[in-house]
Amino acid sequence: RKKSIKYGYTHLSAGELLRDERKNPDSQYGELIEKYIKEGKIVPVEITISLLKREMDETMAANAQKNKFLIDGFPRNQDNLQGWNKTMDGKADVSFVLFFDCNNEICIERCLERGKSSGRSDDNRESLEKRIQTYLQSTKPIIDLYEEMGKVKKIDASKSVDEVFDEVVQIFDKEG
Ligand code: C5P
Ligand code: MG
Repeated sequence: RKKSIKYGYTHLSAGELLRDERKNPDSQYGELIEKYIKEGKIVPVEITISLLKREMDETMAANAQKNKFLIDGFPRNQDNLQGWNKTMDGKADVSFVLFFDCNNEICIERCLERGKSSGRSDDNRESLEKRIQTYLQSTKPIIDLYEEMGKVKKIDASKSVDEVFDEVVQIFDKEG
């Protein structure tokens, strides 16, 4: 569904950038990325941050006003967070974190449904169970850290696409 947010953010998806890099025949990281994605593990941050930073630098080089980014699926673990802090120290402010809260059962059902057409090697039950484990062990603690800093905006993502979108818009209307 293509509804766009009017607040002038450039949307960057860490997972999408990794999937693109995996397809790039010139990349030396293709195999490693595929292995991590299938296992539901988090790719070493040096790779992910270089992809994110390249996109951010290219976007701002083309238009200096485009300096606001909605970064999707990052940071996912301690390594991601440290890499971000090291690379972005003094360069980027984190305004807030959107937390799409949804129980495991619904997430798994949605991804299995998506798997019918996504072509993603991790939209299957086995990879999804691993991704849930990674989330609980590695990602949730990072969300908790941002929560302590008062930066987390929680959305009930078990609702319909339209309801979730409306909640997101409300947050951007206030914070954006
Ligand atoms: O966010 P998304 O569901 O697209 O992520 C898919 C996979 O990409 C993750 O399960 C993980 O293997 C990889 N990924 C990563 N580091 C990130 C984001 C995604 O390793 N920051
Ligand atoms: Mg994603």
